[in-house]
Amino acid sequence: MSIGIDKIGFATSKYVLNMSDLAEARGAEPEKFSIGLMLDALSITPISEDIVTLATSAAQEILTEQDKLDIDMVIVATESGIDQSKAASVYVHSLLGIQPFARSFEMKEACYAATAALNYAKLHVATKPDSKVLVIASDIAKYGIGSAGESTQGAGAVAMLVSSNPRILSFNDDNVAQTRDVMDFWRPNYSTTPFVNGIYSTKQYLDSLKTTWTEYQKRNDTDLKEFAAVCLHLPFPKLALKGLNKLMTKELPEENKAQLLANFERSIVYSRKVGNIYTGSLYLGLLSLLENSETLKAGDKIGLFSYGSGAVSEMFSATLVDGYRKMLNPSRLSELDERQPLSVADYEKLFYEEALLDENGTNTFANYKTGNFRLTGIEQHQRIYTKNDN
Ligand code: CAA
Repeated sequence: MSIGIDKIGFATSKYVLNMSDLAEARGAEPEKFSIGLMLDALSITPISEDIVTLATSAAQEILTEQDKLDIDMVIVATESGIDQSKAASVYVHSLLGIQPFARSFEMKEACYAATAALNYAKLHVATKPDSKVLVIASDIAKYGIGSAGESTQGAGAVAMLVSSNPRILSFNDDNVAQTRDVMDFWRPNYSTTPFVNGIYSTKQYLDSLKTTWTEYQKRNDTDLKEFAAVCLHLPFPKLALKGLNKLMTKELPEENKAQLLANFERSIVYSRKVGNIYTGSLYLGLLSLLENSETLKAGDKIGLFSYGSGAVSEMFSATLVDGYRKMLNPSRLSELDERQPLSVADYEKLFYEEALLDENGTNTFANYKTGNFRLTGIEQHQRIYTKNDN
């Protein structure tokens, strides 16, 4: 039985910050961002958009009423959770109207957890072939005004429906994971932004890639020639390109190199315009590849490298199935271009606005643009979500 991704959806905020404006405001050369990081813009969320609204909008894009009856597990993977106790997936389950006899929970390990969630979903469907699992990677990446990481912020959610006989891609049972205890990026409970050893984190990413890939090749007796494309976690596209270049040895034929590099370009089209979305970044890369590559075809094998600081990494692969293009959204690029550009001053006001609660733990938020769902406010410390009429 083949198990894999049957549908994939994406949501991001309605506001965008252009990197050229950020460069000017911070006294940096625009090429540092456009060439040095390979980033053109960052999605910026207002206070009324959070990981729940993003996750729910991404899932609503793909789910039918029948899917909502078939789903018996909802997993939200995130590293920007909104509650230490209640899982974001419980809100998502309720807002989407998924049938009640479902298991809903949250998973965390920096940018890696969605990969563990997909693997758990695969194991679940293997035992219950009629069930469907909704896996959503949802995050808001916020490093702070003027911080080194400011240029690699972003926000978004990728929703994936895992089922038997999937219509986009099937997972190959070849996963190899690696755990190493390092302090490259972490966010203690008392801090709203992460602590980052930036350069060290890039070294950990690249070394985890090299060592996990070596072990993956050994255990699966494979090499890069078998892959039509490799998608890598995208904290910023330039790091992933460095990673891909490390995998492409001198022995790899030029035609394979050319194909991998061309498909890499297709895999970063969306991230260049959205920035880092942490857990969803790898899967936004996959979505970008599938929706923008003209050369991929059914039967092609795609390698996926997941990295979460701390650090856990995993290498695995999936194979495209017949008719996968019919399950995609050809107008996503133009939808991204509809976001409202922000001045740097407005970005600073919007992105860092904090909920000022009264003595009852209550506040109502301004009517910012959001996707299909909105955090309208907090009442007695409870988050209040509504569905927009659009
Ligand atoms: N023209 C072209 N390129 C230029 C340039 C110019 N005018 N000016 C600078 N550059 C290049 C630099 O040479 C450099 O490229 P190389 O690395 O190839 O040499 C690149 O632009 C970036 O320059 P800096 O290293 O000086 O940039 P920085 O000080 O802003 O730091 C960063 C970059 C460390 C990644 C920082 O953005 C950061 O800390 N980001 C957050 C952490 C992160 O994303 N880590 C990634 C691995 S961890 C992970 O993957 C998990 C996760 O999602 C967070």
